[in-house]
Amino acid sequence: MEQMALLQMSHIAKRYQTKLALKDISMTLQKGEILGFLGPSGAGKTTAMKIITGQLRPTSGEARLLGTDSANLDASIYEKIGVVADNSGVYEKLTVWQNLSVFAQIWRVPSQRVEEVLRQVELTEQKKQPAGKLSKGQMQRLILARSVLHKPKILFLDEPTSGLDPSTAAAIHKMLLDLRAEGMAIFLTTHNMEEAAKLCDKVALLCQGEIVEFGSPQEICLKYNQDKKYRALLSGQEEALLGQSEEDIRKLSEWLLSDRVLSLHSCEPTLESVFLTVTGKALDA
Ligand SMILES: Nc1ncnc2c1ncn2[C@@H]1O[C@H](COP(=O)(O)OP(=O)(O)OP(=O)(O)O)[C@@H](O)[C@H]1O
Ligand SMILES: [Mg+2]
Repeated sequence: MEQMALLQMSHIAKRYQTKLALKDISMTLQKGEILGFLGPSGAGKTTAMKIITGQLRPTSGEARLLGTDSANLDASIYEKIGVVADNSGVYEKLTVWQNLSVFAQIWRVPSQRVEEVLRQVELTEQKKQPAGKLSKGQMQRLILARSVLHKPKILFLDEPTSGLDPSTAAAIHKMLLDLRAEGMAIFLTTHNMEEAAKLCDKVALLCQGEIVEFGSPQEICLKYNQDKKYRALLSGQEEALLGQSEEDIRKLSEWLLSDRVLSLHSCEPTLESVFLTVTGKALDA
C-alpha cells in the first residue's frame, strides 16, 4: 500500500498584487524525509512554507498537510507540527528553562522532556539565563528546542542556519539528522547548497517561483555529469584534467602503472554548479 504523503503541494501558484511568486509548484514529503527548498533570495521559499502551514492562501492549486487542506487548518495542527521561522514567541525576560516550560504546559509535555531537549540542543548550561541575553546561535537553538518539544510529525524550518557560525550550524545539522533518525519529517528552506547536499534526502531547486529540478542531491548532480572529467595530481606537482577519450584513459593507466598519481578526483558537478547551469544564476546572488 502506498504511504500517505505527510504533505503535498499540487499545482500551487501564488500572486502578490502583480508579482507571481510561485508558479505551478507540486511536490510531496514522506515520513522520515528531509526535503529542502533551495533557491536564491526572492525565489519563493518562504511563500511556499507559509502556504503549506496555512499562514497564506494560494492563488490557485492545493496544499495538504497531514491529510487536511492547508487552507482549512485549525489550531490543533500545532500539536502535530513544529515551525521555526523567526524569534517570535520567545519571552526575553523569562529564562531558557521557563520559556520551554510554558510550552511544555500548553502541550502537556512532562518537564523531563524539557531537560532532554535542552541537552539535545546543548543549552543545559544556559537554562537559568534570561532568553534576552542569549547569543544569536543560542537563541536559534532555543527556538529549535521549543519547536520539537512536543515531538511533532513534521518540522518546518525557514533558513535554520542563516547567519550562524560554521560550528553552530554543524550542531544544528547534527540535531536535524538525529530528529530524522527518530522518524520526524523535516521541510526546510535554504540558499546554502552545501547544507542542502549534506542534509536533504530530496531537494527542489527553486528559481523565480518554479521548481527547475527535483530529486536527491546525488541524483541531480549525476544527471548533469554527462561529460565525465577526472582531475589527477601527479608527482612533481603536475596537474592534469582528463576526459574519457582513449588517449586520456591510456595516459591515466600509464601514470597509474608508473605510480605517478598522488591523487585522483572525479569532477561531478555540485548543486551550486547545476543551479548555475539550469538557471544561469548563482544561488547567493
Ligand atoms: N507580502 C508580500 N507582498 C508582495 N510581494 C511579496 C510579499 N512577500 C513576498 N513577496 C515577493 O515574492 C517573492 C518571493 O518571496 P519569498 O519571501 O517567498 O522569497 P524567499 O525565497 O523566501 O527569499 P529569501 O531567501 O530572501 O528569504 C519576492 O519577489 C518577494 O518580493
Ligand atoms: Mg525567505
